[in-house]
Amino acid sequence: MDVFRVEGKGPLEGEIQVGGSKNAALPILAACLLTKEKVTLRNVPNLSDIRFMVEILKYLGAQVENPETGTWTITSSDISHVAPYDLVRKMRASVCLIGPLVGRLRRAEVSIPGGCVIGPRPIDLHLKGLGKLNCKVEISNGYIDIDASEIRGSHIFLGGRSGSTVTGTANLLMAAVLAPGITRIESAACEPEIVDLCKMLTRMGAHIENIGSPELIITGVDQLHGCEHSVIPDRIEAGTFIAAAAITRGHVKIKGIPHTFLGAFLDKVQEAELPLEIAEDSITVLPYKGSLKPVDIITLPYPGFPTDLQAQMCALMSKTEGISIITERIYPNRFMHIPELQRMGADIAIEGASAIIKGPCNFSGAPVMASDLRASAALILAGFAAKGTTWVQRIYHLDRGYESFEQKLSSIGAHIERLPEKELPKDLIE
Ligand code: EPZ
Repeated sequence: MDVFRVEGKGPLEGEIQVGGSKNAALPILAACLLTKEKVTLRNVPNLSDIRFMVEILKYLGAQVENPETGTWTITSSDISHVAPYDLVRKMRASVCLIGPLVGRLRRAEVSIPGGCVIGPRPIDLHLKGLGKLNCKVEISNGYIDIDASEIRGSHIFLGGRSGSTVTGTANLLMAAVLAPGITRIESAACEPEIVDLCKMLTRMGAHIENIGSPELIITGVDQLHGCEHSVIPDRIEAGTFIAAAAITRGHVKIKGIPHTFLGAFLDKVQEAELPLEIAEDSITVLPYKGSLKPVDIITLPYPGFPTDLQAQMCALMSKTEGISIITERIYPNRFMHIPELQRMGADIAIEGASAIIKGPCNFSGAPVMASDLRASAALILAGFAAKGTTWVQRIYHLDRGYESFEQKLSSIGAHIERLPEKELPKDLIE
């Protein structure tokens, strides 16, 4: 396993390009199963989660080509309906296979995805929606077995205890586009990644109304055809880069991101008085003197503040003078980064679903352990602002969701190096 050695070396400066969105690309790759014809996808990020989803598509019988970096062609002329445990358990997002298998084959047998460190990852809403579409759903031996031979359009209310469900909305969209009749999904997720999926499905011949709203209306069609589609930019990568520039008081232009994708996040960093230049397709973080202002944040479904940028904000607010309160309303256990930030000097108390952050702290480099994808990013950001060296272990978590992270950050002056675990200083290993 690799580790990152991170040195705090002052402001980041330069320009950085945002890549394709992981959370758009994953359901979009699954959607390729909905047609026998060839689908060409562009701007797909090169991530371990993406490579893994491709492996599952191949296992199911799809022909997959990767003619150039970021471009994939998928042809699912003859596919199986069974997605096995040893594949599904490794990536939660493989739950997105259910919808297209149900839509295309009227049959799906998919292992129940495990939970993960940020909390249980239930799929009750996915299954409730499939039941409303007249699918017979059985759970046995850790598999979800779906008979959709009598599938038909219906009204589905998808709201759950934490609002809507992103992959649940994706799954039900992909089942409904080929289901006879009209399906109304109420309390659907409105994330840009869902809008992107709807746009691709429409290109394939699907009939979807009110795209981007919490009430989607789908009129089923008999079949879908191939298409070409370019994946939207990754708003979470962009927000992570903005936080990295801010925590180092840098001057960085983040290119290729529509500011409309980051509404709530930009609102909060501007409330903290981070100087920004916002253009059509880029956001520039400007240097500042003194401290940012503390803020109160609650994570919510889109267009609320994204939970995937919560950990990064904990790091940034630890450097900010005053008391910030960050409340996590989407996942029950998404504070795994906090004990590690405390090891680096952060002063954060957890009170129920809220992190109470007293700043500014003086981050000092330390050996830390990444626990999940976004926590990894938060620890590295803290390392950029720390005195001394931070060793971040288990960075395979980061590789799931950030392409060429160390290369991109090094290109704007960060001191971050990927090393084999054996390079860890001996005293850190004992
Ligand atoms: C997607 O996960 C993202 N992953 C997550 O990003 C993101 O954090 C999350 O949406 C919320 O924005 C992908 O898109 C691949 P949910 P998803 O279903 O769809 C509860 C990252 O870092 N819920 O919207 O799995 C659930 O427990 C990852 O890139 C139910 O109760 O999330 C959670 O509390 C992490 N029942 C909340 O809803 C269900 O049937 C939101 O979950 C489904 C979900």
